[in-house]
Amino acid sequence: MNPRIFDSEQDAAVACAARIADAVRARPSLVLGLPTGRTPLNVYRELVALQARGALDLSRASTFNLDEFHGVSAEDAGSFRAYMDRHFFQHVNLAPERIHFLDGSAPDAEAECARYEAELTAAGGLDLVLLGIGGNGHLAFNEPGDSLLAPCHRTKLSRDTRLANAMLFGDDASRVPLEALTLGMGAILQARSVVLLAFGESKAEAVRAMVEGPVTPRCPASFLQLHRDVAVWVDPPAASALSRAQ
Ligand code: PGA
Repeated sequence: MNPRIFDSEQDAAVACAARIADAVRARPSLVLGLPTGRTPLNVYRELVALQARGALDLSRASTFNLDEFHGVSAEDAGSFRAYMDRHFFQHVNLAPERIHFLDGSAPDAEAECARYEAELTAAGGLDLVLLGIGGNGHLAFNEPGDSLLAPCHRTKLSRDTRLANAMLFGDDASRVPLEALTLGMGAILQARSVVLLAFGESKAEAVRAMVEGPVTPRCPASFLQLHRDVAVWVDPPAASALSRAQ
């Protein structure tokens, strides 16, 4: 892994949006994996701007979001679906039937995960997945632990992760659901290309562990060391714990 250090988060976001737009131009039916959180906000804003300038056409593309809170419906303002509607889906020309999402309110979470995995398989898997990284090294909601799961699954959220998502629930971490549904490590590692973004000092240790540490379920992002086509794009604070000159 050879992280690219941009001068600023905004520069990285512009480059990331351009990379996605190039990929869609090369393959209009691109299957994109998309994250939520603070990290991709500027990328979504740049993509919306590209579309407004006529430089991006998503009409044939498909999207699969990485995860959703358990017990939270799409209509809930704290849901990842609501976040995506607000920041991206409402502003671009994706076909609604090609927007794929886990339904956090599905009565049978395991069946919902199986449905989502089957939909992704039918779509041919992810062509390009955009990722953030948790301060604890998680990818999507694949949290650090003794082991990792390949398929889409229901998972418990760590305390750190619930704290990091409090902003979606009125800054009250106690209101963040205890569990989530998430794509597993399989869908992520089988994506044909990966772009991981990390900004800010709070990500510095996770970036170091991902890039320089051992491949271990204690840092799920470290498994990206095994991927052939992964771009790690960071700002200087997120690169500050790296010991090797990049
Ligand atoms: P963040 O979350 O973008 O809000 O920092 C990233 C993640 O937890 O994967």
